[in-house]
Amino acid sequence: MDFNTLASAPSGLSRLAADALVVVVVGESVPAGLDKTVAAALSASVEAGDLALKPGKTLMLHRVPRVQAPRVVFTTAGDASAKAFHKAVGAAMGVLKNGGARHVVVALAGAETTAAHAEALALATADALYVYRHTKPSAPPAAPVRTVTLVCDAALRAEAAAGLARGVAIADGVTLARECANRPANHCTPSFLASEAKRLGKAHGLKVDVLDRKDVDKLGMGAFLAVAQGSDEPLKFIVARWQGAGKNDAPVVLVGKGITFDTGGISIKPAAEMDEMKFDMGGAASVLGTLQAVAAMKARVNVVGLIAACENMPSGRAVKPGDVVKSMSGQTIEILNTDAEGRLILCDALTYAERFKPAVVVDIATLTGACVIALGHHRSGMFCADDAVAAELSVAGDAALDPCWRLPVDEEYDEALKSNFADMGNVGPRAGGSITAAMFLKRFTAKYAWAHLDIAGTAWKSGAAKGATGRPVALLTHFVLGRAKG
Ligand code: BES
Ligand code: MN
Ligand code: ZN
Repeated sequence: MDFNTLASAPSGLSRLAADALVVVVVGESVPAGLDKTVAAALSASVEAGDLALKPGKTLMLHRVPRVQAPRVVFTTAGDASAKAFHKAVGAAMGVLKNGGARHVVVALAGAETTAAHAEALALATADALYVYRHTKPSAPPAAPVRTVTLVCDAALRAEAAAGLARGVAIADGVTLARECANRPANHCTPSFLASEAKRLGKAHGLKVDVLDRKDVDKLGMGAFLAVAQGSDEPLKFIVARWQGAGKNDAPVVLVGKGITFDTGGISIKPAAEMDEMKFDMGGAASVLGTLQAVAAMKARVNVVGLIAACENMPSGRAVKPGDVVKSMSGQTIEILNTDAEGRLILCDALTYAERFKPAVVVDIATLTGACVIALGHHRSGMFCADDAVAAELSVAGDAALDPCWRLPVDEEYDEALKSNFADMGNVGPRAGGSITAAMFLKRFTAKYAWAHLDIAGTAWKSGAAKGATGRPVALLTHFVLGRAKG
């Protein structure tokens, strides 16, 4: 799909040639300055009771007299924000998704089109038009939309074009993450994630190394190995590097949980909804998506992506509750619950991260059901002892329309991890489960600035809309870009 900009006044919309004209209407009245013909159609629709000027409404009209585009879609936004625009565009693209329009022109009526709106246009369009087909080729074909043109003020055109370019790069990263996570665990294996990383490396100039069980054994990653040992599917440890800045510039290191299927292991999960544990590699997928976005933009920053990938299965060789393992850091862990496997694979990856002398390390994981209880499905959980880094992540999430919310990491929570048989247990009591999971990871991050994102509630949707979201690729990309040289 192509995105471009067009400098035009809102008064000229009826003369624009396209298959569909999408008009995002801000506020609760017909915006001043809007094209007279389009405004008349809008007023008539409102008067006829076919469209209410309240947020979240859409109406498609065909062949409005004296409007060049054969389809006009009105879509309402509560305010002039990029967030409201994103929602409104998403709704309009949903209307066009199963139609015949190939070239869509989008105009914001009642507010100025900024870079943030342009970015939101690319994200909302890609989000609305995505179709999962890999194991369902009979799914309705992808929408015919090929070109999306954003109308903007001539003075703001360069800014809008830059926002569009950023939005397209991020949207492609989000789509990659979604596609990987949606694929079932018999397709999306650790080896598949490794091959995707290699493919990205070739396409975008990333340096990619894939470590196997032997290498991981040599490194002493006893916690990662313990999780992987119950499965016949070989583990992979993926190291992908984007070098956009100087050799000696400390990198941002992103660490992704890549459990391609989480049965719980011997502490096996109930059957209901266990299929959704194919999404337990959402953190890994977001690392790949972010690397792709950052590399596509040729961002002047160094980024290292680390992915620990394996299955968590019960078997005669599986790790058992009570087993004690030695992590790469040397600290011993009593595995009290084999279903708390994410922290076990991440802790060794976090120790591995030390060798890059990172500026900051962010791990991303579908780590705890407790995080879903705490924050639901809107904001990811964010854990960070460093106020400045925490602020960066919050700002990045808000700007990217991919928000997170900070939760505490006070040392008082660490007590829950005491064990009589090892340096720590891998679980605490139920209360504050997301926080104790973060406290566990924190024990492996003494050597650098660190943050943890728990995306258990945001990486995928359940129910009728079941599917991966590609979050938090947008947040992470904004965070990384915030550290790039201008
Ligand atoms: N992958 C799950 C977390 C999860 C569960 C995410 C449900 C989304 C929905 C993780 O590996 C897990 O099983 N965590 C346990 C930890 C517990 C044993 C301390 C959980 O949250 O129940
Ligand atoms: Mn688990
Ligand atoms: Zn898991």
